Amino acid sequence: MVTLEQFIVDKQQEFEGASGAFSKILRDLSLGAKLISFYLRRASLTGLLGELGLTNIQGESVQKLDHLANTLFIRLFSQNPHVAGLASEEEEHFIATNPHGKYVVLFDPLDGSSNIDVGVPVGTIFSIYRRVSPVGSPCEARDFLQGGRAQVAAGYVLYGTSTLLFYTTGQGVHGFTLEPAAGEFLLTYPQVQMPAQCAFYSFNDNQLHEWAPGLQRYVQDLHARNRTAAKPQSLRYVGSLVADFHRNLLKGGLFMYPGTVKKPEGKLRLLYEAYPMAWLTEQAGGKATDGQKPILDLPAQNIHQRVPLFLGPAEEINRITTFLSENVPVETL
Ligand code: AHG
Ligand code: MN
Ligand code: MN
Repeated sequence: MVTLEQFIVDKQQEFEGASGAFSKILRDLSLGAKLISFYLRRASLTGLLGELGLTNIQGESVQKLDHLANTLFIRLFSQNPHVAGLASEEEEHFIATNPHGKYVVLFDPLDGSSNIDVGVPVGTIFSIYRRVSPVGSPCEARDFLQGGRAQVAAGYVLYGTSTLLFYTTGQGVHGFTLEPAAGEFLLTYPQVQMPAQCAFYSFNDNQLHEWAPGLQRYVQDLHARNRTAAKPQSLRYVGSLVADFHRNLLKGGLFMYPGTVKKPEGKLRLLYEAYPMAWLTEQAGGKATDGQKPILDLPAQNIHQRVPLFLGPAEEINRITTFLSENVPVETL
């Protein structure tokens, strides 16, 4: 029985230059996760379901639990001496906190909000960087815009049939399960590897007609392969990136949220959804692309920029990028 704290201390030696700061940041993340898990599971008893009545920078209606999770993480990280600043999906601008902190944290406090009221799992996504601006001064935009390869830690919490915390610091992906009796996250999924074959495919095809021709052809090819496959892939899509990703990470599956003619950049946010999930995917042996380039190589321009997102086993991702590069329209089949 290894707790998250103990695991981090044991791994600390591998986390170059950490002065215990990282473990204190992960401890705040896990405290936030435990509290959100507590509030989520009672939301329909305590009037915490539904909308707050505000619209956020994304132009989306803020759910009460979005607001609660966001406020909780802002409070936790603001009082952490190692955090110089934070950026949240729910905040228009980044927030400078402790000028002597060496790290910045980006997060999606509650991912999959549309599912909160209908009992479908939701999550939290986080991404941590060492700051590049001088310690002792307020953090700056450039601290948040270093690009995916500069992340020092990334992960997610899944509030599902159990509360799970998965993360990477570049030494593989490790998963922990909250043991409510002890209030501790215990190591349950060491060194996770994504299966090389897909059991599932996860995408919302309601705008399929607006996807690139090559991608429409990929979908047609997927259905054709299923007609003869010994074990056809199943469609599984719940509309929570964390839940869809987690299932595909453990069982093998493709997740994609492509761009369309109207929205070529897609919906998902690069800094606190795509980068962290892409790093986890690569660390678990998979591939993560925007359809052309690896997600982690894409430059960060602003904290809320969106990007098309394809996550999955290398073989499936390579198939998609081939179809996209040929871009053969479906009608010529
Ligand atoms: P968020 O709730 O943080 O805004 O994220 C929702 C995202 C992501 O979790 C999910 O994959 C996607 O929205 C689902 O979008 P559609 O409902 O358009 O399929
Ligand atoms: Mn999200
Ligand atoms: Mn969110």
